[in-house]
Amino acid sequence: MYRDVSSCNSYNYGDALYWDARYIQEAGSFDWYQRYTALRPFVRRYIPTSSRVLMVGCGNAVMSEDMVKDGYEEIMNIDISSVAIEMMRRKHEHIHQLQYMQMDVKDMSFFPDESFDCVIDKGTLDSLMCGTDAPISASRMLGEVSRLLKPGGIYMLVTIYSKLKLDSGCSLFHFGNLK
Ligand SMILES: C[S@@+](CC[C@H](N)C(=O)[O-])C[C@H]1O[C@@H](n2cnc3c(N)ncnc32)[C@H](O)[C@@H]1O
Repeated sequence: MYRDVSSCNSYNYGDALYWDARYIQEAGSFDWYQRYTALRPFVRRYIPTSSRVLMVGCGNAVMSEDMVKDGYEEIMNIDISSVAIEMMRRKHEHIHQLQYMQMDVKDMSFFPDESFDCVIDKGTLDSLMCGTDAPISASRMLGEVSRLLKPGGIYMLVTIYSKLKLDSGCSLFHFGNLK
């Protein structure tokens, strides 16, 4: 379940065209880093099943589907790739707990402030950190995440980076602000 992104400078993981091409090529499903079974202890501990959840950069991962099977009632999934979103929307049209929208995580103005109890990010901030203008992109994204969370809301970040690397890569943002 691990893909080495140490060579991420050779790709533009922050680019929608890159992801569209990739999802056209890889039409199945793939979970980056970890699947829900491994993350479940943390998810269940911090996120009540009645939470309104935003999954940012959902890709074609099975994570959201598995969460619904485990009792989660409302998960909004967004991704910059229209290919991934259309694929996932068709696949899950019968699962009313799952919704899909094509959207840039740096501009989620479609949603009003304090719309979600929880934002889950598995590999999406990491992608922006590999893109052009990484510090600005990452800070925009985190500003939006912060805006969309209700007071006391949870930002669950699954990342390959250490806090030190995140703090230097996202120098315009202080991780201590997110609770
Ligand atoms: C490393 S993949 C992780 C996918 C999925 N979360 C998982 O765990 O398997 C990163 C995802 O972020 C999406 N992404 C990249 N830049 C984005 C952006 N600016 N806005 C929304 N999604 C973005 C990509 O399309 C891709 O699906």
